[in-house]
Amino acid sequence: MTIPFMEPFRIKVVEKVKMTTREERQAALAKAQLNLFNVPGEDVYIDLLTDSGTNAMSDEQWAGIMRGDEAYAGAKSYFRFEKAVQEILGFEFVLPTHQGRAAEGLLFTTLVKRGQSVPNNRHFDTTQANLLVMGANPVDLTVVESEDSQIELPFKGNMDLAQLKAFIEKVGAENIPLGMLTVTNNSAAGQPVSMDNIRETAEIYHSFGIPFFMDICRFAENAWFIKIRDPKYKDTPVKDIVLEMMSYADGATMSAKKDAIVNMGGFVAFRDPELKSKLAANLIVREGFLTYGGLSGRDLEAIAVGLHEAIDEEYLNYREAHTRYLGKVLSEAGIPVYMPTGGHAVYVDGGKALPHIPKSQYPAVALGNALYLTGGVRTTEIGSLMFEHNDPLTGEHLLAPLELLRFAIPRRVYTRSHLDYIGESAAELMKNAESIRGLRVKWAPPVLRHFMAQLEEI
Ligand code: F0G
Repeated sequence: MTIPFMEPFRIKVVEKVKMTTREERQAALAKAQLNLFNVPGEDVYIDLLTDSGTNAMSDEQWAGIMRGDEAYAGAKSYFRFEKAVQEILGFEFVLPTHQGRAAEGLLFTTLVKRGQSVPNNRHFDTTQANLLVMGANPVDLTVVESEDSQIELPFKGNMDLAQLKAFIEKVGAENIPLGMLTVTNNSAAGQPVSMDNIRETAEIYHSFGIPFFMDICRFAENAWFIKIRDPKYKDTPVKDIVLEMMSYADGATMSAKKDAIVNMGGFVAFRDPELKSKLAANLIVREGFLTYGGLSGRDLEAIAVGLHEAIDEEYLNYREAHTRYLGKVLSEAGIPVYMPTGGHAVYVDGGKALPHIPKSQYPAVALGNALYLTGGVRTTEIGSLMFEHNDPLTGEHLLAPLELLRFAIPRRVYTRSHLDYIGESAAELMKNAESIRGLRVKWAPPVLRHFMAQLEEI
């Protein structure tokens, strides 16, 4: 078959989107202080800002929404949700939260103390921020290959195991209340983590008596990469790969807005009954009663159905090929694409695309703004505007390793013509790439500044 991918679904509901003129987009971006987060969604033609909560739900999920039981305590919907988590992820206990960062906040405020460290292959912005606001130290230890956007390796999201061990020995296990691993590694270009690396990371944490939690927002996409990139797993069903991945961990935090294919939700799942009472007390203060957390019964139903749909192999085959196809059209447009393409997004090397703009002037943000002006396509920076900070241990000023622009793809939303259009917009933009200027921050809040920063051209 010569068709690059086939959608294993058809469209039942559509949403009208508006085409804008370049002048309208210029006005919208100026009003947004050059920050695409501040542009109204209505003024965006193709929205690749995030794959989080932007998914199209299925007919079965909408049916679940109607089934939602809104009992305050012990709703039927909670038990269906719990069963899905137990069956698919293999964790005995689960507490719902309104989204992923609330799950992180719940876990960290229960287990982590000021001054302690939490290693990860790479923390996402919210996990990093959740620790920083508590005065704790998020530590990133992804393999160094992840910082090269061109080498093609199957699992560039892996934890650097030697560095992990050395770090634990240096600060002492008593200063590490839990260890983490993020699958897929969103901050490192959406690259997957291999099964061997998950197992070995767990072995290292456990050999020091450190509980091991995974950040599993994109667990199904990671499992699919294990199936197609690790020959040992080519004949293993994804559902078994997922169970093996989880079997090494003591628990997980999840933003259901990603691989549970819903619009809102999250949870913490775990095995230790003693942890349940501690987390539950904290949950009731922060989110809600144990059986709904921050969610409605109907949301729990949609997650329960979505978790099953996310591990459907026809869907995952399409999902990976769809993302890879966007990588291909962007490469053909002359944009340096991070290779190999990730599961949920294509990452572009903004530093390489605009070599005349130094890292300190946020080349990936400048590239994203230019793409919005050219085609009404919205993307997001995963670079120094997002991650620049002073190391809490050494005080060193740190920029991001790569200035990436992320094209995150909402699940089951955009067609191949949309992707081709993005390629054409990118080609158009690259014709005048040298005229794009660097940016400086006019104003920004101290934490998670990229969401609200106001920028100006230099
Ligand atoms: N962990 C990872 C790896 C994430 O990518 C995200 C969210 C979170 C945790 C937090 O989840 O948004 O439900 O609170 N990532 C989104 C993104 C926002 O665009 O990548 P949340």
